[in-house]
Amino acid sequence: MKFKQRIYLFLSLLVWAYSQILVAGEVEVLHWWTSGGEARSLDVLKQKMVEQGHSWKDFAVVGGSGDKAMAVLKSRALSGFPPTATQIKGKHIQEWGKLGLLTNLDKIAAEQNWIEILHDFVNDTMKYDGHYVAVPVNIHRANWLWVNPELFKQAGVSIPTTLKEFWLAADKLKKVGIIPIAHGDQAWQNSTVFEMLLLGMTSVEFYKKAFVELDKESLSSEKIIDVFVAFRKLKNYMDENIADRDWNTATSMVINGKAAMQIMGDWAKGEFIAEEKQLGKDFLCIPMPSTSKTFSYVIDSFIMFEISDTDNKKAQASLVKNILDKQFQKTFNMNKGSIPVRKDIDVDTFDLCAKASRSTLVADSYANVLPSFSYGMATSIYTQDAIFDIVTDFFRNEKITPKQAAEKLTRAIEDSF
Ligand code: GAL
Repeated sequence: MKFKQRIYLFLSLLVWAYSQILVAGEVEVLHWWTSGGEARSLDVLKQKMVEQGHSWKDFAVVGGSGDKAMAVLKSRALSGFPPTATQIKGKHIQEWGKLGLLTNLDKIAAEQNWIEILHDFVNDTMKYDGHYVAVPVNIHRANWLWVNPELFKQAGVSIPTTLKEFWLAADKLKKVGIIPIAHGDQAWQNSTVFEMLLLGMTSVEFYKKAFVELDKESLSSEKIIDVFVAFRKLKNYMDENIADRDWNTATSMVINGKAAMQIMGDWAKGEFIAEEKQLGKDFLCIPMPSTSKTFSYVIDSFIMFEISDTDNKKAQASLVKNILDKQFQKTFNMNKGSIPVRKDIDVDTFDLCAKASRSTLVADSYANVLPSFSYGMATSIYTQDAIFDIVTDFFRNEKITPKQAAEKLTRAIEDSF
């Protein structure tokens, strides 16, 4: 190599190294995506950041649905050292917004045209006081039933589409010695199952009145008592080792043929995919019986904390932009089980569950789209906690009658605001 060429190469390397130093920053990301499917999905984001020269400091707090992560976040943020970004959802965003610690994302939102590319209900959820303070990553549908078709075949039972068929199927499965329902007795999982029964037993209008408007009359109606009755009945179809079982352990019972069904959001699909199971053959996704037209939504999102380091600020901005990158949205959501949060990404290359999700979401101009109270989408954290407590107390304590539980629920919800 000639001397001139060498100098040129050396200078180019210097410029490249300098540019790397200039753009590279660190993001510390607090999250609870630690199950097989969740971790695989998040890796796509990590890799993207690393490819851009940033470093990713993983701050994972194990525990489905993030209740443990939220406790850790509080102590970190209140001690004055919040992470760069954290997974936060729904109405919880409002609580963090009030504290005034969040990075305003309006500029990036305008650049990426969030107002146009996101659904209205997503845009609304991401704002505090009229400003964007969170970036959405996906839309999960909570009202799914995950089925092991082989066990249904063994029991000679057909796949239920209504609650009536569901109870019949559960009876038959139990009779031939198959565990009908895989479940974990944790407050958020109990609440999920309670909510899904409620959706199947009532109507979209009733749900909105009772759990969005928190209308006292609806909350204290017979309908809620009936749901508590059904919820207790469901326990008869679970095994005896439900105490504190993680949701993904319950999913693996369906994967491994130990249980026939699980009532869970479509993050469960991520577990089947991570285990290389085939949709239609090894597992089925069925809308929670009697809720096929309803879309109970859970939007995963990240908030960004105000930080001072310039490089890390740049990394933070890259993180936000990457989350809404089109290719990332496709790969991430295919792994995660959710659908892209961007309206302008079609789901033609996605599987049948995702396609069904998208069409249910937008059907009848979003008329059947409901925020899930079990995931903080419908109410404040305080009301959500009140629901968790009452539902779980009832589930664990046979002495509480459905009527008492319904009364307690109304009172606890009222006291929570
Ligand atoms: C939910 C979250 C999902 C999934 C699930 C289980 O709160 O929205 O993405 O991860 O928890 O951990």
